[in-house]
Amino acid sequence: MADTLDFGFHPNPDPMPADERAERLKDPGFGTLFTDHMAMVRYTEGKGWHDAEISARRALSLDPAAAVLHYAQEIFEGMKAYKQADGAIALFRPEENARRFQRSAERMAMPELPEQIFLDSITRLTEVERDWIPPQEGGALYLRPFMFASEAFLGVRPAKEYLYLVIACSVGSYFKADAPAVTIWASQNYSRAAPGGTGAAKCGGNYAASLPAQAEAIEAGCDQVVFLDAAEKRWVEELGGMNLFFVFDNGEVVTPPLTGTILPGITRASLIQLLRDEGLTVREEPYAFEDWRKDSESGRLLETMACGTAAVVTAVGTVKSADGDFTIGTGGPGQITRKMRDRLVNIQRGEAPDPHGWVKHI
Ligand code: COI
Repeated sequence: MADTLDFGFHPNPDPMPADERAERLKDPGFGTLFTDHMAMVRYTEGKGWHDAEISARRALSLDPAAAVLHYAQEIFEGMKAYKQADGAIALFRPEENARRFQRSAERMAMPELPEQIFLDSITRLTEVERDWIPPQEGGALYLRPFMFASEAFLGVRPAKEYLYLVIACSVGSYFKADAPAVTIWASQNYSRAAPGGTGAAKCGGNYAASLPAQAEAIEAGCDQVVFLDAAEKRWVEELGGMNLFFVFDNGEVVTPPLTGTILPGITRASLIQLLRDEGLTVREEPYAFEDWRKDSESGRLLETMACGTAAVVTAVGTVKSADGDFTIGTGGPGQITRKMRDRLVNIQRGEAPDPHGWVKHI
């Protein structure tokens, strides 16, 4: 079966006029300003991947019995294309997204999309939509590859037909007004993932199940929810859509380990490397919620960073919970958080050397 495909290109006959796009790009927000085209590839059992195309972004027609609508066989990725200082366009570690997409597919009993088809879909769509990258700092083209079971069948078994798509949107910062630090709600009523579950897969169901906790967070005046482990409700795991790092006064940094219940973030892996490059000791080990409180109060913990493709690197300022609130450091971004955000963003934008070969020009 094909490991590469030729993407046919069918231009959108009715794209957004350039002056309207330029106006909208001034303040793109996050997740609402969609581009003119999308990539699509079909999968049929026995036939493999076929009918690859870039065409006008449009509504899909689905049979109401499509398996995804009933049993949630769906996975996705999140990645960004950046405008470089010299005007070129670059992706950041796209092959890592391709591999994680394959691992998510395996966990959800879906066919694995060959890495080259994933990379070609991203590259082709980005080439077509290059004028949608906001020119201002912090702007990027956010790419959302996703795949779902499209077969019309109500029996519970892995589907035999799938659609893989990539849509794109112009984005600015994920948090409102480029928040200097975010406030987090510690969920005691809900878990995100259990051992043996789907926590390490990037599947829509994980995000759906996180929404009541996110609603609690918003109700409590917080930006995000932090989940504790399901078994003991003791260990800090991750936020609704971001990984966490804890920076201590002895130069050590801790991030929760990838034990199967945490999403293996590509920004997380990059930050571990960049922190080590700075000479800091990074340990992947469990960190208890009560220690987070105690260490913040004693001043042993200097900073907490949240990271992800969408959020980049953002300081966690205050943590609220039913048992009371605590503030980390000054409540704003500390030295390491600022430095790491700059290091990462400068590499992504081609404004600093790329010692690990992460940036891929297209
Ligand atoms: C990302 O950071 O790209 C994510 O997928 C997190 C969230 C926006 C769902």
